[in-house]
Amino acid sequence: MEKRELLYEGKAKKLYLTDDKELVISEFKDDLTAFNGLKKASEAGKGALNNKISTELFKLLDSKGIPTHFVKMLDDNHMLHKKVDVILIEVIVRNIATGSLSKNLGLTDGMVLPFTLVEFDYKNDELGDPKLNDQHALILGLVKYQDELDKIRRMAREINDILRPYFADKGLNLVDFKLEFGKDSSGNIILVDEISPDNCRFWDMTTGEKMDKDRFRQGLGGLKMAYEEVLNRILGK
Ligand code: TYD
Repeated sequence: MEKRELLYEGKAKKLYLTDDKELVISEFKDDLTAFNGLKKASEAGKGALNNKISTELFKLLDSKGIPTHFVKMLDDNHMLHKKVDVILIEVIVRNIATGSLSKNLGLTDGMVLPFTLVEFDYKNDELGDPKLNDQHALILGLVKYQDELDKIRRMAREINDILRPYFADKGLNLVDFKLEFGKDSSGNIILVDEISPDNCRFWDMTTGEKMDKDRFRQGLGGLKMAYEEVLNRILGK
């Protein structure tokens, strides 16, 4: 598979065209950003860890019947995947209150939610990714039909129902995470982007230690070691 011209550069990945118009290559970067891009750093090896973690999780979800864009991992920093039209909604799934949810609603940090919360944010940096309800999403034309929002919400819950016990088995509490979806060339809604400690919160079930990007956001250090630990637990090492 030949890597051709750069299509797009995001905060954590670069996207390249290939010689197959249905397929693209993501290059996972070592860059880290937080607080709407105001805090930036780079951590050598972070991109490769996220590529490997995402690869394992996409394979797991595929095996459980969740359609994803994943095709294969090409090397440490490159993933081959389907080209999709990305739906400009960040789907946030929460099992435990923390971060912006605790801040905005005054919920105690660490409170187990009575049920899994699925929220939508508008993927729009200029507007600061505001919260969306279904009517906002339809007015903005982010999807055409209510059915599509229902499907995205259903898939997000199914993914949580797979990942939460999977990580619990490995001693990690899946606190919350962000998903993105897209439409493939046949119009099917599939899971895209990445699933990694950059966009999930993992708390160690024994020590309560944070094993995700909050180590960077909160200046705790040891980010790479935490990501390596997440990968090792996934691989059963
Ligand atoms: P959230 O509590 O909304 O934001 P913050 O990290 O600013 O407190 O985050 C919920 C989860 O979603 C968390 O695991 C991080 C992830 N997330 C992203 O990956 N990207 C985003 O732009 C946002 C807002 C959240």
